[in-house]
Amino acid sequence: MLSASHLDLRAEAQQRRPAIAVPQALAPAVVGTWRARMVNEHGSSHVFAQLADQLAALGWASDAAEANSFAAEEREHGRLCGAVVEAAGGEARAPCAAPSVLPAHADTTPRAAALRNVISICCLSETVAVALIGAERLEMPDGPLRELLSQILGDEVGHARFGWRLLAREAGALTPAERAALAIYLPLAFAHLEAHELAHLPVGASWPEDAAQYGLCAGADARALFFDTVDQVIIPGLEAHGLPAADAWKARHA
Ligand SMILES: [Fe+2]
Ligand SMILES: [Fe+2]
Repeated sequence: MLSASHLDLRAEAQQRRPAIAVPQALAPAVVGTWRARMVNEHGSSHVFAQLADQLAALGWASDAAEANSFAAEEREHGRLCGAVVEAAGGEARAPCAAPSVLPAHADTTPRAAALRNVISICCLSETVAVALIGAERLEMPDGPLRELLSQILGDEVGHARFGWRLLAREAGALTPAERAALAIYLPLAFAHLEAHELAHLPVGASWPEDAAQYGLCAGADARALFFDTVDQVIIPGLEAHGLPAADAWKARHA
């Protein structure tokens, strides 16, 4: 049942608490940032669980099993982000909205419908996550928080690659109608991605220099990296499979 609830990961988060000492001046920002990530990561587990069901319905059992394992990883990411909240003096709990229901895309075949979701989740969102988390990790000195982020990053790489692999496997077998169904969906997927990412990367956010070691990033830098990732990774990746991604990106506000 997908309903709004109160996410409480305190017990699991306390077991995973990294040994870090967050300066008092930064603690509220660290708690707020990692608590938002906790909610976001936990929400991703519902997305992959629904994708797993959609893949299973297509008869793609091993893909579905993989997507289910990603759902478990995202739940663990939620606990790990909650662990940072606890380490910074906060509580790993928060109200959370009802998980969004994955679109059924009933206007096209079940295969193209699933690929639309795979593109949106893995080739777009997870690919952006890899770039943003990877950059954040580079700014972090060796230590428990970098280790925690490395574990999350490793999983996100797997989530992104899964989508690109699935797209590569299926792209050649698509009918012209399925290919067209993916093409007309891309502007919407890009618009959704941009709105989601910009909402989570406030341009005004900037911190003292030592904040990067606690995962606090400058919003403007993160936004620039987001746009570079779309331009240099996602668009060429989709175009390589014959999808008109460059035009779709330009048309995302149309
Ligand atoms: Fe994650
Ligand atoms: Fe992920």
